[in-house]
Amino acid sequence: MSTPLVIVGYGWAARMHARAAIALQLPIAGVVGPNPQKRDAFAAEFGAFESSDDLLGVLTRARPHLAVICSPNADHFAQASQAIQAGAHVLVEKPVTTTLADAVTLARLADEHRVTVSVGHMWRYHEAVLALRSQISSGAFGNIVRTHGYGVHAKWGPSGWFTQQQRSGGGALIDMGIHAIDTARFLLGDPLPIRVQASIGKGSFREDLEVDDDGLLIIDWNSGVRSLVEFGWWQPRIGGLEAETEVVGVKGSGQIWPEFRSFDSNYEHCSLDMYRLQLQDVVRCSSDGKDSRVSLDVGVIALQIVSEAYDAARVAYQPSTYIKTWEPTWQR
Ligand SMILES: NC(=O)c1ccc[n+]([C@@H]2O[C@H](COP(=O)([O-])OP(=O)(O)OC[C@H]3O[C@@H](n4cnc5c(N)ncnc54)[C@H](O)[C@@H]3O)[C@@H](O)[C@H]2O)c1
Repeated sequence: MSTPLVIVGYGWAARMHARAAIALQLPIAGVVGPNPQKRDAFAAEFGAFESSDDLLGVLTRARPHLAVICSPNADHFAQASQAIQAGAHVLVEKPVTTTLADAVTLARLADEHRVTVSVGHMWRYHEAVLALRSQISSGAFGNIVRTHGYGVHAKWGPSGWFTQQQRSGGGALIDMGIHAIDTARFLLGDPLPIRVQASIGKGSFREDLEVDDDGLLIIDWNSGVRSLVEFGWWQPRIGGLEAETEVVGVKGSGQIWPEFRSFDSNYEHCSLDMYRLQLQDVVRCSSDGKDSRVSLDVGVIALQIVSEAYDAARVAYQPSTYIKTWEPTWQR
């Protein structure tokens, strides 16, 4: 393949996509972002032809096949819109946007300009996730009744823009919970959500946070299955790796990483391989005018569940208006 890419951003996610591009021998036409030192260093390391803070200029000069957007969440919408309008296909990191209305606008724009948009839900390419999905669809566990997923960071959490509501759109739920939500949905064969219940905590593990760092949500799917999802940052222990999902069926149960016991320093959980497979699928499908496995619909439904959960949990901050505390009769 010799399909040029433009990469927007030069942080952790951008590096994974750039490494995937190199593994696939895809040339990086340009890297875009506001910080010249970081951007130039990234361009030099990955052999990008151009480093600039002007996305439109790069898109016009390079005419890339694909724009890979790895900027802070709140910038996704404007940058993806610009790329679509310049005729580029888009792979935008999760969450697709920070509001559902913006995601719907992206879908309309993509249709108008006849380009595809994919969203970085790369766990859909992990071999262990695919293996469990095959077991489920072959009926190994019978009809699935319930799943339990994890999107939790143990002993650390992000800082900077990730913790600023305006730039991130939310905390651990939109950052980590979204992976566990989408992994459960993928394992179950992409059912649609019909109800979301949530309890979300801010400052549970870090008092100074303005976004959520702990929570639980329950999703009812139109297939009759229900999913429990735990998410959080800075937790002292975790019940499972990022995106780990256990499934419980009428005939048995399984999970993605049954052998996992603890982290060691050599353990690379976020493998490059799933980023490579994701990029390969996105480039192939967009060249054929088809949706990839991580289509815009996938990203929009994950974001819709996250948005519903934030709405559903809002009442939790005014408990006295919601729950009338029961008083045992012997105390009256
Ligand atoms: N799929 C995954 O597992 C995964 C993992 C990490 C991050 N992400 C997503 O990738 C995106 C970036 O996260 P990250 O971890 O790389 O963050 P990061 O903070 O490491 O990098 C973001 C970079 O973008 C730069 N930047 C700031 N404003 C910009 C703009 N307007 N345009 C271009 N660049 C800009 C910043 O200087 C920073 O270097 C986020 O949407 C995040 O949710 C996804």
